[in-house]
Amino acid sequence: MVERFGFQVNATDGRARTGIISTPRGEIRTPAFMPVGTAATVKAMMPESVRATGADILLGNTYHLMLRPGAERIARLGGLHRFMNWDRPILTDSGGFQVMSLAALRKLTEEGVRFASHIDGSKHMLSPERSMEIQKLLGSDIVMCFDECPALPATEDQVAKSMRLSMRWAQRSRDAFGDRPGHALFGIMQGGVTRELREESATALKSIGFDGYAVGGLAVGEGQEAMFGVLDYAPGFLPEDKPRYLMGVGKPDDIVGAVERGIDMMDCVLPSRSGRTAQAWTRRGQVNLKNARHQDDPRPLDENCTCPACRNYSRAYLHHVVRAQEIIASMLLTWHNLHYYQELMQGLRGAIAEGRLSAFVAGFHAARAEGDI
Ligand code: GUN
Ligand code: ZN
Repeated sequence: MVERFGFQVNATDGRARTGIISTPRGEIRTPAFMPVGTAATVKAMMPESVRATGADILLGNTYHLMLRPGAERIARLGGLHRFMNWDRPILTDSGGFQVMSLAALRKLTEEGVRFASHIDGSKHMLSPERSMEIQKLLGSDIVMCFDECPALPATEDQVAKSMRLSMRWAQRSRDAFGDRPGHALFGIMQGGVTRELREESATALKSIGFDGYAVGGLAVGEGQEAMFGVLDYAPGFLPEDKPRYLMGVGKPDDIVGAVERGIDMMDCVLPSRSGRTAQAWTRRGQVNLKNARHQDDPRPLDENCTCPACRNYSRAYLHHVVRAQEIIASMLLTWHNLHYYQELMQGLRGAIAEGRLSAFVAGFHAARAEGDI
């Protein structure tokens, strides 16, 4: 078992890369998709089932866990890995992004953010120093800098001011994190859709020095074209020998486009959240199991998928448990969606390793264009 955090690129194809992130808790194959386990659970899934879909790493949230059940409590109970029964790597987001979208009565200053909990209205504070402390109490393997993601719509001046605050917080995060062998600290690039601001942010982060670099502030309503526009240059501002993480992305076609543009890691609630609202993702696009067209269909959701939902159940059954609001509907569809996402990542990794990414991407788009059976 390695004792230090490391990253090795094994092959490239165009701007896309495939490799391995090494941590004391295991390896992460890249490009990697991280299922979201916000409240110390990937909703509707046992951790061993999440692993069975092919996940190497989960994402957890500072904001949710500090409010409930509390970071100090999780630390007393042996840390987040033991608490939730997942012994592989965990990346935790720093809380700034979630505070701005979920908390009430937020007050943002140079020091940090004071806010009231969305759960019970209790008052809390997050700063770079407190976020680093919480992520250490949780035992996170990959810690994210405390940043601010400006709410849209915002002027370029607002985006610039917010980015520069995030860069000062990045330095404070680095100082507070200290030296923790085996644990990594990632910086987060901001700057909206403005090339000069993205470059300024990357330069600031590189001069501080991080174990990996995230592209933040995207997938916040700008649309895929604008996001790909930023991803056409932003990864190029970051060091080649460190992982690049695109935060909060995305739909399968967003993921494919991001990987083509040099992204190594991603996370999104979409596959798990969709699984709880009867939406399935397959090679042929999105399928709504609520639709009455499935009610007499004996065929599996996807005859080529090897997940339990597709191996053992018909579309008619999945439709029935969705309609009856049975818990197994969420379980099966979440499993299928996470399995599909991980299979897509495996396909991307293999294609990059063998220098056939363009053909793989063409096949991906062709299958979706055919539509559901
Ligand atoms: N999740 C999605 N986007 C962001 C971002 O810009 N910052 C943080 N911390 N988390 C995110
Ligand atoms: Zn399946």
